[in-house]
Amino acid sequence: MDRSELIRPELGGMKPYTPGLRASEVRERTGRDEVSKLSSNEYPLGPTPRAVEAMAAVLPHLNRYPDGSVRALKQRLAAHWGVEERFLAVTNGSNELLRLVAQAVLRPGDEVVYAWPSFVVYPLVTRLFGATQVAVPLDADARHDLPAMLAAVTERTRLIFLCNPNNPTGTIFTRTELEVFLAAVPPHVLVVLDEAYFEFVDDGSYPDGLHYFDGQRPLVVARTFSKIYSLAGVRVGYGFLPEPLLAAVDAIREPFNVNTVAQVGAFYSLDDQPEVVRRKHVNREQKTYLYSCFDRLGIAYVPSHTNFVWLHTERPAEVFEELLREGVIARSFGDTPALRLGVGTDKDTRRTVAALDSIVGRRGSF
Ligand SMILES: Cc1ncc(COP(=O)(O)O)c(C=O)c1O
Repeated sequence: MDRSELIRPELGGMKPYTPGLRASEVRERTGRDEVSKLSSNEYPLGPTPRAVEAMAAVLPHLNRYPDGSVRALKQRLAAHWGVEERFLAVTNGSNELLRLVAQAVLRPGDEVVYAWPSFVVYPLVTRLFGATQVAVPLDADARHDLPAMLAAVTERTRLIFLCNPNNPTGTIFTRTELEVFLAAVPPHVLVVLDEAYFEFVDDGSYPDGLHYFDGQRPLVVARTFSKIYSLAGVRVGYGFLPEPLLAAVDAIREPFNVNTVAQVGAFYSLDDQPEVVRRKHVNREQKTYLYSCFDRLGIAYVPSHTNFVWLHTERPAEVFEELLREGVIARSFGDTPALRLGVGTDKDTRRTVAALDSIVGRRGSF
């Protein structure tokens, strides 16, 4: 027997998720001591002081399994957001939540609608469970085209992923746009609203997904501690899920899917709200300065509601390599004529601007 026949046919040709380059790889490749890792939309500084202290304190107790019910963190999150604890799922990053939701609802032949380009995990989990990908192009402003997404819904649509703000373009859709959309989505379709960058958004027209969550309607709101809370390395995300989806997800998840360090780190991070406000402010300042440099250098970009910016370039592979040589790790997306660049610290910004200056200076364009 051809051994590849062992593998489920719908997984044929699936490739592992390719993460952004790691700083250590780039240090090795370029011989530079310092690099700016701006490729994975992480926050550039470590977790909050309280979180670090609490995580360090549990290290001697890691002989024990974590709390499989994630009780304390769920209670803390429920109080923080004013939503009942019984609607909460905490997972190994919000990535795991997206996958568990897909696993719980998708059957072969189902259709999954999502915008494109958007978060790469949506097509991955769609294929994983034998469903069909329905990718709807972003509009001319790199925003979700919600009317086109609605038009793509059929009787076979089971799931719609909405990414607000959108990764990789940093754009949002508004409260009014979401309300029109939700009112028109047929009831056989589950809407998953992925709000991984929720905490970075300033815009008054941005909808808080929880406002639409009532535990009944087929709506999931997913969030994470990986971004503004700087806990990407311990993997902890969460979501609000209606019954009976929550029960299904709880039944199929691994018994101890959220480790102890992650649980306490997330719990104590929530106590550091002034720090979250400060981080949002710093991110906005750095981003504004970057915009002024993009404008000066004639680099076309999409104004972003997040901690990353989508830059237009006709030669993404070359520019990616040039940035790398200057110690800046951006993210490219194959032939898509764009690069995604994270917003970092003041030092990262200075390194980025120096790199852009030298690239545009040499080439005359970006
Ligand atoms: C839109 C979006 N959703 C979800 C995630 C997953 O984050 P995590 O699994 O770290 O919570 C990411 C990470 O980059 C993201 O960009």
